[in-house]
Amino acid sequence: MANQSSSSIAAYYDKAAGMVPEFTVLNYGFSSEPENSRVPANHAEFYCLRLYEHTVRDVNLAGRDVLEVSCGRGGGADFLFRNFAPRSYVGVDVSSKNVRMARQYSDGPVYRVGAAETLDFEAETFDVVINIEASHLYEDRQAFFSEVFRVLKPGGDFCYTDGCWANDDCSDELREAGFVLEERLEITDNVIRSLERDNERKERLFDAIADPKLVHEYKDWGGIVGFRTWRRFVERETLYFSHRLKRP
Ligand SMILES: C[S@@+](CC[C@H](N)C(=O)[O-])C[C@H]1O[C@@H](n2cnc3c(N)ncnc32)[C@H](O)[C@@H]1O
Repeated sequence: MANQSSSSIAAYYDKAAGMVPEFTVLNYGFSSEPENSRVPANHAEFYCLRLYEHTVRDVNLAGRDVLEVSCGRGGGADFLFRNFAPRSYVGVDVSSKNVRMARQYSDGPVYRVGAAETLDFEAETFDVVINIEASHLYEDRQAFFSEVFRVLKPGGDFCYTDGCWANDDCSDELREAGFVLEERLEITDNVIRSLERDNERKERLFDAIADPKLVHEYKDWGGIVGFRTWRRFVERETLYFSHRLKRP
């Protein structure tokens, strides 16, 4: 989970956008027993959408203006837009190809190209900001937190989920940006459970990639059982957290 430059990340996700178009959601997912979910049980991306559902959990989206930073290919935005009745939903991503795929996939939310560290919105525009499994890719996480604080209205909610190195606790950075940290949950076991339950589907899609070098790279990144990302979670080298924060 090393930081890389935004342009190389955008280039990586632009290249990846042509690959495995079946993925509309690009995260490691969430699974619990019982699942207690409003995601249809037979949905191909059930576990990845479960992570969206978990991330917003008891935060009300109905009738509110929502920004998702790093919306990827739009599958999660589309799910929240259809099921949680926000007044408006804007998705931003640094990869123009992901934004194009998101626009093709769903027409409810508005999608824009943009960087997390320099959000192109007026101060106090949104009631809720959502960010899922992306901040470990940012060049400047503190700048991102400050930007989220700026664009949230007072009383607004920040629903924030990501994996990190085991010794990388971002709680102080979040407080420094001005947030009240209402809840911080470690959900690594839920993520591992999701990776294992969703493994067959993902591995089949990765195995269909023509270039064998890329197959290995994608399995490492994609959390396939036995590969790098899965191993790091199982060995507790990396952990996964979900946060509920408020701008006072
Ligand atoms: C692992 S994907 C997660 C996407 C989405 N949240 C989901 O769960 O499907 C990470 C996303 O972060 C985006 N990203 C990386 N760096 C970014 C930055 N600096 N600003 C905005 N988006 C960025 C990538 O283009 C990619 O779409």
